[in-house]
Amino acid sequence: MTDKVRVLFVCLGNICRSPTAQGVFQRAVDQAGLDRLVEVDSCGTGSWHVGKAPDERAIEAARRRGIDIGHLRARQFQPRDLARFDFVLVMDRQNLADVREHWQREGGTEPELFLAYAGMEGPLEVPDPYFGGAQGFERVLDLIESASQGLIASIREQRA
Ligand code: 4NP
Repeated sequence: MTDKVRVLFVCLGNICRSPTAQGVFQRAVDQAGLDRLVEVDSCGTGSWHVGKAPDERAIEAARRRGIDIGHLRARQFQPRDLARFDFVLVMDRQNLADVREHWQREGGTEPELFLAYAGMEGPLEVPDPYFGGAQGFERVLDLIESASQGLIASIREQRA
């Protein structure tokens, strides 16, 4: 094993889905004993929430599963992230279109839908929970937990 594997999660605001993915996937990395190999970060395509902590509902939902994301702070996606990260994993098709535009111009790591790692069955988008109720945040966690396991398996295979 040589260089680190750098993983970036991208959503719209970087206050609900992608910080949740960062926290959940970091725990999966730690549990898999890969924390010295894998680095995890998250960002949003939008700038409205830059510098803010995650949404209280996302913090609470993650906390109920034993994951602390309260210390994370939102930042905006930058085109140079495509050169820095080995995986650029977006939550929905709008995120994909937005990041792909940069990728088509500047190259680097091609963005992918994160849920492509969740297996053959099921949805490919993590639905935006921002304007919905608490149930949406549970659904986000379920989808992200399952894709995180798939991503760990892919990274292991790649590095085997
Ligand atoms: P996220 O959720 O993309 O999962 O962080 C959202 C947060 C804020 C907004 C939209 C989605 N917003 O419109 O402010």
